[in-house]
Amino acid sequence: MTEAADDERRVLARVLRQSLESLGRAGVDRIPIASLGAIAGPIPARPASPAPRPAPAAPAPRSPEVGNTLPTPPPSRPAEPPPPRVERPTLPPPVAASLFGEPGLAEVVPETDRAPQLAVLAAEVSRCTRCAELAATRKQTVFGEGSVTARLMFIGEAPGADEDETGRPFVGRSGALLTDMIGKGMGIPRAEVYIANILKSRPPGNRTPEPEEVANCIGYLERQVAIIRPQFLCLLGKTAASVLLETALPLGKLRGKWHRYRGIPTIVTYHPSALLRNPAWKKDAWEDLQILMQAMGIKPPDRKRPG
Ligand code: URA
Repeated sequence: MTEAADDERRVLARVLRQSLESLGRAGVDRIPIASLGAIAGPIPARPASPAPRPAPAAPAPRSPEVGNTLPTPPPSRPAEPPPPRVERPTLPPPVAASLFGEPGLAEVVPETDRAPQLAVLAAEVSRCTRCAELAATRKQTVFGEGSVTARLMFIGEAPGADEDETGRPFVGRSGALLTDMIGKGMGIPRAEVYIANILKSRPPGNRTPEPEEVANCIGYLERQVAIIRPQFLCLLGKTAASVLLETALPLGKLRGKWHRYRGIPTIVTYHPSALLRNPAWKKDAWEDLQILMQAMGIKPPDRKRPG
């Protein structure tokens, strides 16, 4: 077996294992054979790639604010009774299936099909060489991880050195802070959310992703979101916010209110690396998480917020 094929099989096995574990946690104890066929068959030599989006020109600033409709309870799983009412931005209407406009994304992917579909996508990502520099300098791709039935998905910028080393998103210092924000702050086990990045390969020296790299890679994230179809998104930092909301507004103007990405209610907050550099911003980030928690019907755990 070639080294590349070996790598690919390792990625497949890892993503499949994570996905099966999360399905198990969600109470799924069997998967139809038809779903498994998607990964049991031979891996095509050339990926069926998502059409790369044209490299974005500088986006015209536009107001990303959304309407002020009443909060709607999450559709698929019953949430706990809502916490006592506090003044917070109200939630936009729920996701309408038709907002996933692209062919192939309109259908809700059955839970049992999500793990195999993600595994196939992860294998495709692991072979991607569209960004020649990133493909030549990365140790491995970092696809994303978490529950395939996650209600909440976090999206960061791109893998750093620790992520490149391990193949997992947010495992370095900023990852430890994100894990605390999710676990200690929101009271959700990290394994119950899904975490991904705009780029799946580390930019050398952790530089900001180039527009062309974003255009090359964004189709993979779009497919991840369409497969998992979380009820809420949390965009971490300026890159994720500006790319997905197509805005040039500064982060300070985007946080603290609801947006929508493909119909999914979306909150923007500071990237954990920015919080490590500016701990005073943690108060604002905590407010952003509380907006999310209120909409999700989650009560904060006893400990007030991550330090
Ligand atoms: N920063 C990111 O944006 N993503 C990671 O996975 C790690 C650090």
